[in-house]
Amino acid sequence: MKTVGVFDSGVGGLSVLRALLAELPGQRFVYAADSAFAPYGERTAAEVSERTHRVTQHLREAYTIDALVVACNTATAHAIDDLRRQYPHMPIVGVEPALKPAASLSRNGRIGVLATRGTLGSARVAALRDRLVAASSRPLHFSFQPCDGLAAAIERHDTAAIETLSTRYVNELLRGDTQDEEPIDTVVLGCTHYPFAADVLGQLSGPGVMLVETGVPVARRTREVLELPAPAEGMTPSSTTLLSTGDPVALAEAAHRWLGLRANAQTLPV
Ligand code: DGL
Repeated sequence: MKTVGVFDSGVGGLSVLRALLAELPGQRFVYAADSAFAPYGERTAAEVSERTHRVTQHLREAYTIDALVVACNTATAHAIDDLRRQYPHMPIVGVEPALKPAASLSRNGRIGVLATRGTLGSARVAALRDRLVAASSRPLHFSFQPCDGLAAAIERHDTAAIETLSTRYVNELLRGDTQDEEPIDTVVLGCTHYPFAADVLGQLSGPGVMLVETGVPVARRTREVLELPAPAEGMTPSSTTLLSTGDPVALAEAAHRWLGLRANAQTLPV
């Protein structure tokens, strides 16, 4: 049995944990939410990196994790290279906005990306976009839409704010550039919080637009790096421990609401 640390600024990484639980039965997951310091999206790269290192160090010392899933696009963008340098022997799987899958799925090559300001402003995501555009045999166009406050609204489970902010950002993204001949047909949910607003975002985007998220490919990649067998009937479910630097009860409620998970939640003392 492997122990896998899963880390996010808050409840968003639960969308990745959901896929991990389905893909990696029989393992032990320790989910760490840095909710006291969320949202990360509007923090500096140095702040996000510092928090990511602290939480990782704690997960290694207190839970001797075999691998870490950085279930946060913003933390991946700002900290994963450093983290891999610091812990060269620990497998670390990050989460990046699904630009590449979106490029394959889009019919017309026009792709919108909803993510935090931090993720979209990072050199890592700009380089990913530029590589894809350069390697593509057809014109590809990515429109980046920062969504200030949306992860925080999901974190608070504030449905009114989720609706208001989603409306604003989807409108800016899809209806901002009226000069375009072709409308955006694929939207990347580039923040692990956003799958929990997928119903609203999907309705606002309309039936012609595909939403793309990353939980399942990240879970598959984690299974590959840990060399674990594919899930099969009759395997024991994985166990989960929930940790939060904020309110552990709020984290346990979110895990129950969205994943149907009943797990013990404790304070993360970092
Ligand atoms: N869930 C995170 C992400 O994927 C961060 C959201 C935030 O804390 O701003 O980017």
